Amino acid sequence: MRRIPVTHNSGGLSLFKIVKKVVLRHDIKQMDILAPLVARKIKPGQFIMFRVDESGERIPLTMVDHDPEKGTVRIIFQEVGKSTRQLGDMNEGDSVLDFIGPLGKYHKMTGGKHGRIIGVGGGIGIAPLLPKVREFQADGDEIISIIGARSKDLLILEDEMKAASSELNICTDDGSYGHKGFVTEILKQKLDESTNYDFVLAIGPPIMMKVVRDLVKPYGVPCYVSLNTIMVDGTGMCGSCRVSVGGKVKFACIDGPEMRGEEIDFAEMMSRQTRYVAEEKTSMERYLAKEGK
Ligand code: FES
Repeated sequence: MRRIPVTHNSGGLSLFKIVKKVVLRHDIKQMDILAPLVARKIKPGQFIMFRVDESGERIPLTMVDHDPEKGTVRIIFQEVGKSTRQLGDMNEGDSVLDFIGPLGKYHKMTGGKHGRIIGVGGGIGIAPLLPKVREFQADGDEIISIIGARSKDLLILEDEMKAASSELNICTDDGSYGHKGFVTEILKQKLDESTNYDFVLAIGPPIMMKVVRDLVKPYGVPCYVSLNTIMVDGTGMCGSCRVSVGGKVKFACIDGPEMRGEEIDFAEMMSRQTRYVAEEKTSMERYLAKEGK
């Protein structure tokens, strides 16, 4: 039976208050949420689940940073549906109804030994990659980071990734910044030069993680991915994050979100990704109409 962490509701305190909001890119927002007990326990790779109000759906988001002393947890999200749009419309001083966590398994990938790692982040996936890279850096690992976005104006956390990495490579699809092309092109160059890496960790859209996994496999370097983008309710009950790994059924929200990528059936996983598109569209239209937007 899955144990759901306590939400620590407030009894009068302004828990789950947005203490800081930063607009990173036009539809990508960063928020520090006051949630002291979550901030004390959460670790890189784990996620939280928020609900804006009673009528809101539960949305899982991976932690980007946390400050146990201030009691805050940092999240970064792209407004892709009604709930993330609604959260993005909130401001400093507002509070969300629920902020549950930590959820998911904490995976200490390097085991504290000094290693060589490649981290690959695509789009909003750079946000959950950052705390992992920081943890590798704190362990004394050498970390080569490769991050990419469609264009320069969509690239996030460049300075933070640069500070946490031994080497940072940037790619944009349109060539507006860094290497013109995909993260996999730089990854291939690195692996052609050397396969002396402990593992590759890729976080981004499912198709990017699949392509990275397929590319890395022949080099014999272990590959991890983080399936945070496929989660829906985050509790093991909706089945949306079900994934076949080597013929065995796993759930990203319980067994992950980080998993070894080699045996993941990405084709099956991605075929379920469009299931709720119609419902999400209707929900967004209703929200925008209600808000007069
Ligand atoms: S997100 Fe629903 S079962 Fe994992």
